[in-house]
Amino acid sequence: GYDVSKLLKTTGNVTYDPGFVNTAATSSAITFIDGDKGILRYRGYPIEELAEHSSFLEVSYLLIYGNLPTPAELDAFDQRIRRHTMLNEDLKGFFNGFPRDAHPMPVLSSAVSALSTFYQDSLDPFDDEQVEMATIRLMAKMPVIAAYAHKKSIGQPMLYPDNSMNLVENYLRLCFGVPTEHYEMDPVVVKALDLLLILHADHEQNCSTSTVRMVGSANANMFASVSAGINALFGPLHGGANEAVLNMLRQIQESGEPVEKFVERVKNKEDGVKLMGFGHRVYKNYDPRAKIVKATAHEILEKLGGNDELLEIAMRLEEVALTDEYFVSRKLYPNVDFYTGLIYKAMGFPEKMFTVLFAIGRLPGWIAQWREMMKDPETKIGRPRQLYTGEPERMYPSR
Ligand code: ACO
Repeated sequence: GYDVSKLLKTTGNVTYDPGFVNTAATSSAITFIDGDKGILRYRGYPIEELAEHSSFLEVSYLLIYGNLPTPAELDAFDQRIRRHTMLNEDLKGFFNGFPRDAHPMPVLSSAVSALSTFYQDSLDPFDDEQVEMATIRLMAKMPVIAAYAHKKSIGQPMLYPDNSMNLVENYLRLCFGVPTEHYEMDPVVVKALDLLLILHADHEQNCSTSTVRMVGSANANMFASVSAGINALFGPLHGGANEAVLNMLRQIQESGEPVEKFVERVKNKEDGVKLMGFGHRVYKNYDPRAKIVKATAHEILEKLGGNDELLEIAMRLEEVALTDEYFVSRKLYPNVDFYTGLIYKAMGFPEKMFTVLFAIGRLPGWIAQWREMMKDPETKIGRPRQLYTGEPERMYPSR
């Protein structure tokens, strides 16, 4: 409703680009996306290849250090992470300060922020050794924090990490194991979770990554920057979408509303209802990550005994949407989180943990982007401009 050209006259020569739809705020050598063709590559490697042949740990190394590791490099990375899984006992006390029904995302971001109080030797963004320590500590401790947030919410004791296990196995045991029993690892779950973490590991300048960069651009430490990214990810338009998708599917199931009728309500923008898990700022084609998840969803749900009815509803929604003019003309396709919730649920995670899983997956991307920014001589403090639409100068009333 504003006359932008008039506003620009008072602001000077700035670009008006709400939501940074057309603004590249940085250069980056980490992730390539072609949204029209549905291509995603980490450090040049197609996501399909990485999903098939790599592990999450290997992909994390690739994103952070730039190249695939040799077996020796991967082993050293793995060992360093295992050595740092334990949380300071005082940090564990932190979890008692939150209400039992707290959502684990703000618990996670608070505890990650608190890492900067416990590990003060890893805060200097320009000291390579300290940056490396912060990297390893975050990779090692964030899954543990996430698992503890879950344990706290269900009133179970927190287990100590078992460093004979790798990151993904350890995380599953910390979430689902109990002190009185041996935790039997299901290799199907380990493999499926590893795959989903790979698919979430980076996605160039998305909302949470841009937040990590924005906070880091003020030379804030890595823990503070990543904590801010977690808060951005919590939003239902971003990482919170995976939880929102399952709520949507369940509502459709419970109400018995025909899928076609729900889609009609979405098209009419009734009460702002959206088809969650659909649409993407960059992909105007099928999200390549969603393609991989969809292809494996059936197989995994079959093995894990997931809720077939919800999968049926999801597939029917996709079928209806992809042939509907509303979605076709707006180029709205399923994004990565349309099918992930169903798999997480089948693995035994409660809905509140879905976005936490996204955060664990996105961590190496946040770290890689933060590190790249700190080394980039072009980096400047993030400070957008605005078009002022408020009152012109006013006389202060005499009293
Ligand atoms: N359901 C219904 N309509 C939609 C949807 C949707 N999921 N997504 C976009 N649209 C419509 C918009 O209403 C708009 O319509 P209009 O032209 O009639 O006004 C048009 O498509 C363009 O959408 P924008 O909102 O302008 O697209 P933007 O790039 O700003 O938003 C976003 C992208 C936030 C992802 C959006 O598609 C959305 O809200 N999707 C649902 C939430 C979701 O799944 N988020 C996960 C994103 S991916 C990730 O973080 C892993």
